[in-house]
Amino acid sequence: MVKPWARVMAVSTQAARAEQRVATSDFILWTEGIVKRFGGVVALDGVSVRIPRKRITLLIGPNGSGKTTLVNVISGFYAPDAGKVIYEGKDITGKPPHLIARMGIIRTFQIPKPFLNLTVLENLLAANPPGSYENPYLAWVSKRRWIRVEDEAVERAFKILKLLGLDKEWDQRATALSGAGLKLLEVGRALMSGARLMIMDEPAAGVNPAKAHEIFSTLTRLRDEHGITFFIIEHRIDIAAKYVDYAYAMHLGRVISEGPPEKVLHDPRVIESYIGG
Ligand SMILES: Nc1ncnc2c1ncn2[C@@H]1O[C@H](COP(=O)(O)OP(=O)(O)O)[C@@H](O)[C@H]1O
Ligand SMILES: [Mg+2]
Repeated sequence: MVKPWARVMAVSTQAARAEQRVATSDFILWTEGIVKRFGGVVALDGVSVRIPRKRITLLIGPNGSGKTTLVNVISGFYAPDAGKVIYEGKDITGKPPHLIARMGIIRTFQIPKPFLNLTVLENLLAANPPGSYENPYLAWVSKRRWIRVEDEAVERAFKILKLLGLDKEWDQRATALSGAGLKLLEVGRALMSGARLMIMDEPAAGVNPAKAHEIFSTLTRLRDEHGITFFIIEHRIDIAAKYVDYAYAMHLGRVISEGPPEKVLHDPRVIESYIGG
């Protein structure tokens, strides 16, 4: 015979599990107590961050605070000495970068590295993950050459270029693009390779404020219309703050503040960390 309290227990455990599922599914990725040392330097000293799904999360902190190292651990370039990286509820700690990328965590680098000799469209096609080329054919995608691609890929590439406002330049060589255009091209290549969580190091560095606003508003469109999640390191926090949903501040390998961007930017500990160096 099942005792009545046993059923109550079972039901409440179920409810607790369901609640936990709801809570965790709000976050596409989180880290738990990441530690990373380089010799005697403790670059990350127990870092726990949670990246809300379909949101733009900003990561700030003075030079040397551990931002790039954290991103390197998340994207698999470094294995942590301790701690965990959880993506879509799965432990991905220490998995190699190419597997992590295949899962949809795509890193765009500070300096966009397109193939400068290729056209804008070709750059996107080159980022298409190797898929099933069961029915390949030769498509005329460039005035200069024939390229072996699936027409589905070309269609997808054009959609992405349109989203980014690069569709009119599809046949231009990447060298013809402006600095902001190159950054958007990098975003396009990440989308083409199947990004669900895009990790960006300084998307607005080296472009003028008007273009920086343009880049960030494009990112908000990708968030709102395509459900892409962003985790962004950015020093132009005056500009970024208007577009991001949540912020983390790091100092000396630790998270020292988190919350809505305005709150984090005005947190005395954060201001002190920048002044103190
Ligand atoms: N590959 C490495 N080898 C040795 N030390 C490193 C390496 N990468 C980062 N560090 C050190 O770890 C600390 C954090 O660096 P980093 O993550 O690059 O900071 P941030 O990106 O916030 O400027 C710094 O003290 C830096 O010198
Ligand atoms: Mg850095």
